[in-house]
Amino acid sequence: AANTRESMYLVSEYANTYFQNVLHKTDKGKAIGLSYFKERGFTEETIKKFQLGYALDEWQAFSDEALKNGYNIEFLESTGLTIVKPDKHFDRFKGRVMFPIHSMSGRVLGFGGRILGNEKKAAKYLNSPESEIYHKSKVLYGLYFAKQSIAKEDNCYLVEGYTDVIQFYQTGIQNVVSSSGTALTSEQIRLINRLTNNITVLFDGDAAGMRASLRGIDLILEQGMNVRVCTFPDGEDPDSFAKSNTEAELREYLTENAKDFIQFKASVLVDEAKNDPIKKAETIRDIVNSIAKIPDQIKREVYIQECARIMDISEEVLFSTLAQISKKEM
Ligand code: CTP
Ligand code: MN
Ligand code: MN
Ligand code: MN
Ligand code: MN
Repeated sequence: AANTRESMYLVSEYANTYFQNVLHKTDKGKAIGLSYFKERGFTEETIKKFQLGYALDEWQAFSDEALKNGYNIEFLESTGLTIVKPDKHFDRFKGRVMFPIHSMSGRVLGFGGRILGNEKKAAKYLNSPESEIYHKSKVLYGLYFAKQSIAKEDNCYLVEGYTDVIQFYQTGIQNVVSSSGTALTSEQIRLINRLTNNITVLFDGDAAGMRASLRGIDLILEQGMNVRVCTFPDGEDPDSFAKSNTEAELREYLTENAKDFIQFKASVLVDEAKNDPIKKAETIRDIVNSIAKIPDQIKREVYIQECARIMDISEEVLFSTLAQISKKEM
């Protein structure tokens, strides 16, 4: 099995080099892929740093080149790079710009490939399938590039997408990773926990992003970590916001708009239904449910006090609600 994995790493590494060569050294790669990345505002340095590439819009360009270079069809298939049918084989990624996904130590585990443009003919992003080396629930995109900065800044920004990570990094904020659009998992949070106790969730300024932020909060609290949330204006995501702002403006926006989770949940309520007592009661219960996830008793107390203050309700009621929830969970 160790041999199998090593062979899969090698073929992924080869594919990574191949896609980058296509991007930088072929006419089609330059005309289509490289100019796409440049339109998105990525510099040559950024494109090289993140090892971005391009897969030609052909059926077997990559697979045939890999086979010619001695890579085994078995590992091309198990990494998902090649789709093998009884009488033929073809490339999984065609006509897409390529984002390699690295392990914490920098090995290539898989890829995300994006269609050019925004037409809805195909899935916007196509990702490597689960395999012996790629478990998407255990990987954070960008962690390899961010890990030192996360430890140094003692904070990790968590975003939704590949381009959010890259644009932040280029703008000057390097402590950023992405869950790649999948629901955040405990394993992913544990990877961050080894480097810092602080996560700032930065999801897209749309309903889906809001839901994803709310879902992630409890998972982070459960691991005894501190969580802040910063949303973006409607229709913006961290990528688009960072692209149209300087580093100083971006930092200022993050400082001014990051809220702790109670303020964040309270602000969702204010937006939805300020004066609706039923909604308000639901929100308070929801906040106490989150507080119940915090392992540390002192922190729980401090947050109960904050919740009482923000929601204008007595601490006693909140403490007894908290006690009920804790009892139910035992
Ligand atoms: N995603 C995916 N498959 C899709 C759509 C999204 O895997 N069909 C993942 C990608 O990792 C993507 C992330 O979810 O980066 C966030 O999705 P979205 O916000 O829709 O994409 P963006 O990252 O904003 O991509 P872009 O700016 O290129 O449109
Ligand atoms: Mn920790
Ligand atoms: Mn989105
Ligand atoms: Mn987005
Ligand atoms: Mn985007």
